[in-house]
Amino acid sequence: MDTPEEAHGYDAMDHSAANQSVVSAFLEAGGDACREILDIGTGPGDIPLLLAAANPSARITAVDAAETMLGLARQKVARAGLEDRITLRAADAKSLPFDDGAFDGVISNTILHHIPDPVSYLAEAGRVLGRGTLLIRDLCRPTDRDAAERLVALHAAQENEYQQKLFFDSLCASLTLDEVRDALRRAGLADASLAMTSDRHYTIALRR
Ligand SMILES: C[S@@+](CC[C@H](N)C(=O)[O-])C[C@H]1O[C@@H](n2cnc3c(N)ncnc32)[C@H](O)[C@@H]1O
Repeated sequence: MDTPEEAHGYDAMDHSAANQSVVSAFLEAGGDACREILDIGTGPGDIPLLLAAANPSARITAVDAAETMLGLARQKVARAGLEDRITLRAADAKSLPFDDGAFDGVISNTILHHIPDPVSYLAEAGRVLGRGTLLIRDLCRPTDRDAAERLVALHAAQENEYQQKLFFDSLCASLTLDEVRDALRRAGLADASLAMTSDRHYTIALRR
């Protein structure tokens, strides 16, 4: 999602309810007590802003591979005056530039389906988590194209044609629950829980 068209198209969509939902789930899973939180694949930076507001004791590091996305995030963090609590940096989720156990909270929303090698991404998320809370959420692949089209009509009817196509393509690129379960096992995260948490999302959660 590094082209300006993709980044701005994504940012212009209304993700507020989904963002609030994943942040609430993270806080309820123990994220409210975390002090050093990593957001992997932060995109336009909305999730770190919500985390900073909900957990005033936390410092948040937010990484993304796409410079255009990081540019959007930097603007939002600066507008909110939160540069002292939110650090943004470029990094590949499959090879994170952090020590083992560097964070007591790891959150990551809707990036797994962008990554051709999800096992490396999941293993890295588990590696940088020390004692604390991990929460990963993403889209689950619908059974067929008709089911994907129904989800687009249900959740993106108000978006423009390009944004609807982004959502449709993301649904079709996503993994099934069985595929996620297998990737978790291969990433050494077989002890994480995995469940459908909406008509289109699954959530992975782990508490150490
Ligand atoms: C659908 S957006 C989600 C953004 C944000 N998590 C949110 O929920 O608003 C997916 C993000 O993952 C990022 N991404 C994809 N592959 C990545 C990788 N290998 N490493 C880091 N970020 C990646 C993209 O650049 C994009 O910003």
